Amino acid sequence: MSELLFVNACVRGERSRTLALARHFLAAYEKSHPEVRVTERNLMEERLEPQYPEVLKERDALWAAGRLDAPMFAPARQFAGAGCIVVAAPFWDLSYPAILKIYLERISVTNLTFGYDAEGRMVGLCRAEKLLFITTRGGDFSLPETAWMESGARHLQALCAMYGIPAFRLLCAQGLDDVRNDPEALLARAMEEAEALAQTF
Ligand SMILES: Cc1cc2nc3c(=O)[nH]c(=O)nc-3n(C[C@H](O)[C@H](O)[C@H](O)COP(=O)(O)O)c2cc1C
Repeated sequence: MSELLFVNACVRGERSRTLALARHFLAAYEKSHPEVRVTERNLMEERLEPQYPEVLKERDALWAAGRLDAPMFAPARQFAGAGCIVVAAPFWDLSYPAILKIYLERISVTNLTFGYDAEGRMVGLCRAEKLLFITTRGGDFSLPETAWMESGARHLQALCAMYGIPAFRLLCAQGLDDVRNDPEALLARAMEEAEALAQTF
């Protein structure tokens, strides 16, 4: 059975519109892909420690000793082995919540999720063919004057290149906190997009 890894960084939990969108996508996905097992990693429950000096020191010591099987590297091993990946996080301060950054630092382990070849070129080591990033944003960051500020989806897309995940997809509802917009209508449209994407992802 192949695995879809769902990384949940929707801090507001059941009040989160991003989580509602992600759950809608996953329900449709599970219906059309009954052979795939969905495994959730809930970053609010997990509370990974940031890489403070002592955490980094432990990580470096384990890595230098070749202990890539250590519990500290379990998230990286899981990420590297997943068949496909869905990450859901709201748009915060032009990117995403810090808990997701902590997770990304935790899984970015040389020789597990990425590495270097004999010529020193970076090579991705993840199995996944695709990663879907689901987010919702208060403002609209698709406009020429705002798109350059968006640093969440763009960072994840760049990491996919580093991890060797060839396809990056984005599912996004934006402008939800703009008084000129109808947030329910925008979210409903994104839900429809989620259903369509679930068939092909
Ligand atoms: C801490 C915080 C930071 C935010 N930063 C931004 C921002 O920089 N730009 C923006 O357009 N919206 C920002 N928002 C609004 C959220 O992106 C928006 O309300 C989103 O739909 C929240 O997703 P959620 O319902 O999944 O929590 C912020 C919201 C919070 C709580």
